[in-house]
Amino acid sequence: MRVAIIGSGPAGFYAAEALLKRTDVVVHVDMFDRLPTPYGLVRGGVAPDHQNIKAVTRVYEKTASRPTFRFFGNVRLGSDIAVEDLRRHYHQIVYAVGNEADRRLGIPGEGITRCTPATVFIGWYNGHPDYRHAKIDLSVSRVAVVGNGNVAVDAARILLRTPAELEKTDIAAHALEALRNSRVREVYILGRRGPAQAAFTPVELKELGEMEDADPIVDPTELAGCVVPAEPVSQRDRNLQILQSFAQRPPGTKSKKLHLRFLVSPVEVLADADGKVSGIKLEKNRLEVRPDGTASARGTGETEILEAGMVLPAIGFSLERIDGVPYDEKAGIIANVDGRVVDPVSRAVIANEYVVGWARTGAQGLIGTHKAASAQVAALMAEDGAALAARELPDREEIFTLLRERGVKTVSFSDWKQLDDVEVARGERRDAPRDKIVDVEAMLAILAQS
Ligand SMILES: Cc1cc2nc3c(=O)[nH]c(=O)nc-3n(C[C@H](O)[C@H](O)[C@H](O)COP(=O)(O)OP(=O)(O)OC[C@H]3O[C@@H](n4cnc5c(N)ncnc54)[C@H](O)[C@@H]3O)c2cc1C
Ligand SMILES: NC(=O)c1ccc[n+]([C@@H]2O[C@H](COP(=O)([O-])OP(=O)(O)OC[C@H]3O[C@@H](n4cnc5c(N)ncnc54)[C@H](OP(=O)(O)O)[C@@H]3O)[C@@H](O)[C@H]2O)c1
Repeated sequence: MRVAIIGSGPAGFYAAEALLKRTDVVVHVDMFDRLPTPYGLVRGGVAPDHQNIKAVTRVYEKTASRPTFRFFGNVRLGSDIAVEDLRRHYHQIVYAVGNEADRRLGIPGEGITRCTPATVFIGWYNGHPDYRHAKIDLSVSRVAVVGNGNVAVDAARILLRTPAELEKTDIAAHALEALRNSRVREVYILGRRGPAQAAFTPVELKELGEMEDADPIVDPTELAGCVVPAEPVSQRDRNLQILQSFAQRPPGTKSKKLHLRFLVSPVEVLADADGKVSGIKLEKNRLEVRPDGTASARGTGETEILEAGMVLPAIGFSLERIDGVPYDEKAGIIANVDGRVVDPVSRAVIANEYVVGWARTGAQGLIGTHKAASAQVAALMAEDGAALAARELPDREEIFTLLRERGVKTVSFSDWKQLDDVEVARGERRDAPRDKIVDVEAMLAILAQS
C-alpha cells in the first residue's frame, strides 16, 4: 500500500506513525512538504522560549527512521506536484497542510504600515523562510495585540522578553538582533469578549506574570461581574484566578508593562502623517448571553483611542487554498466528513483522499490532540483501503524522475539531518539549541556542497 502525506507538521507525522504501524499490510509513506525542513508549526510556530514543547520532534524522527518512510522536502502541492500526480502514484492521499493563511479584521486601516498579522511576526521570529524579509519595526514604544488566544500571548511575551531570556533559545538570529535594539516598552492584549471567555490556556497566561522585566497589569474593574471560584475546575476558572492575582499585584517595578484589556473591539487602525500606525480606535462592548449559555460581544457605540505604534492582529488562521483540493468555503477548511474528503457541494466522498490536523478542523487544538485524531483517520483509511493495494502503480522511484524532470530539488530526511547538524553547530556559538537557516536557497546550497 502506498500513501502520500502532504505536510510534515504534527498531524501529518501522527498519521504516518499510525499507518506505518499497521500489521495487516505493509504501508509505504511518502511525506511531502513545501519547505526543506520538516515539523510544520513545531518549528515555525511554537515560541522559541518553549523549547520543551519542541522536544516532540524526537517522536517524529523515530517515525521518519522507519525504512518504509521517505521525506520529500521542498515540494509544494499545487505547483511542484499536482493532485492528479498523487492520484496516479499513490493508493491513498492524506492532506495535512495546516491553516497557513491569516484571518483579517476587515476594518479600515488594516493594510497600513506596522499593522502586521501575528502570523507574519511569529514566522519572522521563528525563522520561517516566507517571513525572513518581513519589516518588523521595533522603534515604537507601544504595541497593541488583538485577540485573546495563545498566539496573542506568544506574540506579547516575545516582544517583552529580555535579550538574555531569548538568546539561549532557537529564535532566528535576525529577530534576536532586532529585539536587542527594541524600544517596545508596553504591550496591550485586547479581547473583544470578557475575561471568562478568553481562549488563553492557564499555563500560558500564568507565564505572563513570570517574565524577567515585564509586569502584567489588569484593571480590577475589568473583572467586575466575573465570579472567581476558590476551587478552580475549568480552564476558565483558572484563567480568572490568574487574572485576579494580576489585578491584585501592587504596582510593579519592572521596566516593561503588559496590559490585558477586555470587552473592546478594534473598529479602525489609525495612521500618522507618514501613513504608519499611530493608534487603534476601539469600541467598548457588552456581553450578550444567548439561551445556550454562549456569550457574544455587542458594541455599545462608545469608543476610545489607544495610541500605539504597531498593531498585531492575532485572531486566528484560515486554509491556504490548493488547486484541485476540495475547499469548504463556509468552514474555511478542506471539505470533509470525519476526515474523509468530500465534494464541497454534493458532500459525496472523494475516494481515497483524507485530511488531518488543522486543515480538517480549522486552527484549534494543541499538538497532542492530533495524535488520536490522525490515528482515527488512519483507521478509516485501513477500513476503506483493504482491496486497494492490488491496484498497480508506477514504480516507487518514478516520483523522483517526475520531480527531477520538473526541476524540483527534493530534500530527503537525511538531507534535513545534515541541515539540522549545521543549525545545531551554529547555535553552539551563542549557547542556543540551534541557529536556524532561514533561507531556502542557503539550505539547498549547503546540501549541494556535501
Ligand atoms: C504560533 C503558534 C504557536 C503554537 N504553540 C503551541 C504550543 O506551544 N503547544 C502546542 O501544543 N501547540 C501549539 N500550537 C498549535 C500547534 O502548532 C498545532 O496544533 C499544530 O501544529 C497543527 O498541526 P498540523 O500538522 O495540522 O499543521 P502544521 O503544523 O501547520 O503543518 C502543516 C505543514 O504543511 C506544509 N504545507 C502547507 N501547504 C503545503 C503545500 N501546498 N504543499 C506541501 N506542504 C505544505 C507546511 O509547510 C507545514 O509543514 C501553536 C500554534 C501556533 C500558530
Ligand atoms: N503555547 C501554546 O500552547 C499555544 C500557542 C499558540 C497557539 N496555540 C493553539 O493554537 C490554536 C490557535 O490559537 P489562536 O490564538 O490563533 O486562536 P484562538 O485560540 O482561536 O484565539 C483567537 C482569538 O481571536 C479573537 N478574535 C477572532 N476574531 C476577532 C475579531 N474580528 N476581532 C477581535 N478579536 C477576534 C477570538 O475572540 P472570540 O473568542 O471572541 O472569537 C479569540 O480570542 C489554539 O488552539 C491555541 O491554543 C497554543
